[in-house]
Formats: sequence, C-alpha cells, structure tokens
Amino acid sequence: MKKRFRVIDFPVDNKTVLVRASFNVPIKNKKVLDNKKIQVSLPTIEYLLQRKAKIVLISHLGRPNGRFNSSLTLDPIAKELKKLLPKTNIIKLDHCLGRDVRKTVKEAQPGEIILLENLRFHKEEEQNDTSFAHSLANLGDYYINADFSTSHRKHASLHVITKFLPSATGLSVEKELASLSQALKPKKPFIWILGGAKLDKLSILNNALKKADYVLVGGALAFSFLKAKGFHVGMSKTDTKSISIAKKILKKKSSKKIILPVDFVVNKRSKSRAKPKIVSIQEIPMDQVGFDIGPKTVKLFKTYLQKAKTIIWNGPLGYFEVRPYDQGTKQIANFISKLDSATTIIGGGETSEAIKEMKLEKKMTHVSTGGGATLAFLSGEKLPALVALEKNYKRFKKKFKQT
Ligand code: 3PG
Repeated sequence: MKKRFRVIDFPVDNKTVLVRASFNVPIKNKKVLDNKKIQVSLPTIEYLLQRKAKIVLISHLGRPNGRFNSSLTLDPIAKELKKLLPKTNIIKLDHCLGRDVRKTVKEAQPGEIILLENLRFHKEEEQNDTSFAHSLANLGDYYINADFSTSHRKHASLHVITKFLPSATGLSVEKELASLSQALKPKKPFIWILGGAKLDKLSILNNALKKADYVLVGGALAFSFLKAKGFHVGMSKTDTKSISIAKKILKKKSSKKIILPVDFVVNKRSKSRAKPKIVSIQEIPMDQVGFDIGPKTVKLFKTYLQKAKTIIWNGPLGYFEVRPYDQGTKQIANFISKLDSATTIIGGGETSEAIKEMKLEKKMTHVSTGGGATLAFLSGEKLPALVALEKNYKRFKKKFKQT
C-alpha cells in the first residue's frame, strides 16, 4: 500500500491544524438526530487538543448546490460539539472564507476550536477549485483528513487542498482503512447487498458487479431496474437518469448477478393510516409506493446469503425509519448477524444506524462510517482524497519522519 502521513507524524504543538471532518449528519428542526459521524472525528480532535493545537474544523452538510441554505448551516453541529467537548471553547463562524474568518483564526488560542460554515455553500468546493482550497489552506499549518466517508469525492477541501500544506489522515481514517482492507480480497461466495434512497449508487453497482458473485438490490435502486425492465412501479422513487443507467447495466452479461426483489410492501404514503399491502412486482398499483421489500424477497435474499463467505451491505432495503417498513432490513440484518462463517461489512450512515438500533454492531465484522466511499474503496477504486494524501507524502517525506 502507498504511504500517507498520519496526524501523529506532525509536530502540531501550538500549530493551527485544519481538520476536514465529516459532519454530514441527519438534522431535523435544527437538531442533530444522530451524532455518530461527529463522534468519528473526535479521536483526532481530542488528540490535537491534548497537543495544544488550534483546530479549524471544516465540513460539508447535505447538498446545497453551491448556495446558502438556512436548513444546512453548521449551527446544530456546533451545539452538538459543545455537548461532546464541554471543556473546549468552540467558536462557530457564519462563513468559511473572508477577513473575519482569517482574523478569528489568527486570534484564537491553542486548544480552541473554530468551526467554519458549510463548505458546500460555495460551488467551488465541489468544483475542486484551487483558489478556494488555497484560501482554506492559508488558515493553517497542517491539514488533516478526518473524513473517510467523503474521500471518494474530488472536492476542494479533500483533494486540491493537499497541494498547499503537509497533509495527513486522521486517527479514525487509518482505523477504517485497516478494517476495510481485509475485505479487498474477499472469500467467495461474495455477496453485495445494495439499498438505500440515493440513486447515484448505480454507478457503484457497476463496480460491485465486477467483483461480487451476486448483488442483491433493494431500496429505491430496485425500482430503477424494475422500471428499466418494463415493470410499473407506481409512485415509487426513481428518475429518468437512473432508469437509463439501469438499462445500460442490464445489457451487460454480468447483470445476471443482480438479484431484484420479487415483491414489495406498498402503501399510498409512508404515514398513511391504510394497512400496507404486499404485492408482487407485477402488481404495484399506479397510485402506491413500494416502501419495503416483501416476505418472498426476504426469503429469496436469504437463500443467497446463506452460502456467502463475504457480505458487504450498504443501504437499507426499505424505508427503515417508518414502521412497518423496517421489516425487510431487520430480517436480513438478523439473518446475517448469525452467519458465523461469513465476514460481514456494513457501510453507510443509514445501514450502520439500523444495525446500531438493533444492537447488532458487535455481531458484524466491521461497521464502516462511509457509504459511497466504502463501496468505492471495496470495489477497488482509488479514492481521490487518499491519492492526494499519497502524493503529499512523496512531497514532504524528507521533512517529516514517520513514527
Ligand atoms: C456521506 O455522507 O456519504 C458523505 O459525506 C458524502 O456525501 P455526498 O454523497 O453528499 O457527497
């Protein structure tokens, strides 16, 4: 494996350290619903605080498309951080660039944290813009990537920023990489379970098909495939772009590895008082939405999983947050937690949350903090943010000795 610096390789005492954290957490009414991702950055933050560094925290939240969005400010994150680090002075700024930001960072004391505003309020972040990254880099002496879960994005605060500062991985990133690397040479049969609501996972599925023996598809992704095959999916979530990608995938020989649901639990709305119905894929009513995989699909998926030696799972198989649409996910989770001879790797915030809620975390081989990043890494892709750190190592290796 190529080398990267780790945070412990840098003399950070009394220095200003820019930490790219992963604060992309679910928020409702300005409250953090689940702080697991925030906790992921804590070991790095606590280490830096012990070393009396001044910490500038940077992150994105949601997908505001380069514009300010009041529901996606990092104010709730600041509140949550204050709860998690009650003894630390945390200054939350309303911008991530500009004179005030520079002044506040300059005047802050070692051992203090300055949290900048959502980077994705600037389109330059997702454009991997050099001058945007340069302005951020100018705030610190070192740069630490403590966000494995966004490392598959070639964005300014993760990629081009490493051109300007000695750069390293945070503590949890190294831990994550060590665990995931175990699955790079999976024992067979190797099965991926792909679900969730993000339709952009379809591109990852292409990679999964190269490595896995079977890919079990649930969640919203399944509807794009069913629609591409000519089924009516009612009001279930799908869009023209993903249907056309699904059509292309289905033309490939490897598409025979894709196992689609055979039935669904449907209703008009997730919170409808009407009793949900179980229907086959041929019978989804035009005015209804598929909210979960049905019992026949659960049974079908289990027959594949039973024989697996390695299982990677990303994305709930139904609308897990609302009962009774959590059943498909729960039954599959329970089932794989008992498969003693299989390595089980769970990726993605929602899936990890489901596993945590069911108290099955310890029964899985590894519960990853990443979703798309985990899938990309496991399918053998080079994550742009990690490649950037490897290049940075080559540039600075003479200056810093690795411990
Ligand atoms: C995540 O939460 O999966 C990462 O932070 C990436 O977010 P994105 O899919 O909006 O780029």
